[in-house]
Amino acid sequence: MGLDLMVERNTSDQEEREEEEEEKAAKNRYTKGVKHLLETGISSVPKTYILPPQDRPRVADKDLEHGSNFRLPVIDMARLRSSSAADRIQALEAVDKACKEYGFFQVVNHGMNEEGMRKMMAAGRRFFEQGFEERKKWMTSDIRGKVRYGTSFNEINDTVLCWRDFLKLNCQPLQEMLPLCPSSPKDLRDEVVSYVEEIQVLFLEIMAVVLEALGVRKEESLMEEFEEGSHMLIVNYFPPCPNPDLTLGMPPHSDYGFLTLLLQDDIAGLQVYHRDRWFTIDPLFNSIVVNIGDHLEIFSNGRYKSVLHRVLVNSTKPRMSIASLHSLPFSSTVRPAAALIDDAGRGRLYKDTDFAAFLNYISSHDANRKSFLETRKLTPNGQRG
Ligand code: OGA
Ligand code: NI
Repeated sequence: MGLDLMVERNTSDQEEREEEEEEKAAKNRYTKGVKHLLETGISSVPKTYILPPQDRPRVADKDLEHGSNFRLPVIDMARLRSSSAADRIQALEAVDKACKEYGFFQVVNHGMNEEGMRKMMAAGRRFFEQGFEERKKWMTSDIRGKVRYGTSFNEINDTVLCWRDFLKLNCQPLQEMLPLCPSSPKDLRDEVVSYVEEIQVLFLEIMAVVLEALGVRKEESLMEEFEEGSHMLIVNYFPPCPNPDLTLGMPPHSDYGFLTLLLQDDIAGLQVYHRDRWFTIDPLFNSIVVNIGDHLEIFSNGRYKSVLHRVLVNSTKPRMSIASLHSLPFSSTVRPAAALIDDAGRGRLYKDTDFAAFLNYISSHDANRKSFLETRKLTPNGQRG
């Protein structure tokens, strides 16, 4: 090998190493989260957050103003608890219609302590407002970790990063998670305990209603399984963004569980895909947004579909939300309900699935859109799709 060639090879090796180092440094900067990135003094979003033109949100200012948007169906829980059979039946029909048409609804008179909801939100906000040195204690790339501070959507596989930081708390069983839960701010653990206990009760109530709306007998064993079911609490923090038209807080995705119960602050940002377009959901004070996840789509054998949603960011105010994702225990198998598989009409449309398959999938794939659920579909006659 000539000397020239060797020198050239060495230089390019070195360049490659330098590039790798640079890439690592950049990645390091981004894995600390969006809030941290902003604090380093950027004036526009870095390239890694910029979506290809076709995936960018077209945000009109009026989309983020209250009152100009479409309203999700509102379900009054008090009517579902009513002793009047006519009232109950009407409310059940409204739930069935909302699940079929939108995959989303909002509940009022839900029985959650409203002061507690605000305190949970405030404690979550203070977690993100404290310095990175404090937050970073919970940073881990282990997706199976019980407590996890992180950023973006699916950090490992995201090709474009998202403008979102999160704290994920695996709340089943709560007593195992608590000692690992951040103790700064000081009131966070107490607020988490109260919120988790109340939202779990509300989930069980709504889940029983949904089973009734589906026409599936509320089998004791199923409800018992839900009582011990998986529960992931996700505190989402979306910092203000210098270029909200170029990126998203969360990409279009569906949630994996049976139901997600979402508390949002008073800043709009959540969008739902409905009839081929995106609708912004105005926050309704003191309400909880409920949406159908992939596991319920499978369980209902496709009668209720999980629905794509995403999150817009804005240039002025941080936005917060607290998502509570509920499903069967991690060790359970999710399969279409026998009563909803009809050999004559609607055969089995989905394969059995479990959390292990889901976690393996998100470890190695870009899990946005409804890509995981697509892998669980069967063709109508029950063959593999
Ligand atoms: C989620 C989610 C919506 C929001 O956490 O899965 O969709 O409004 N959040 O933050
Ligand atoms: Ni979601």
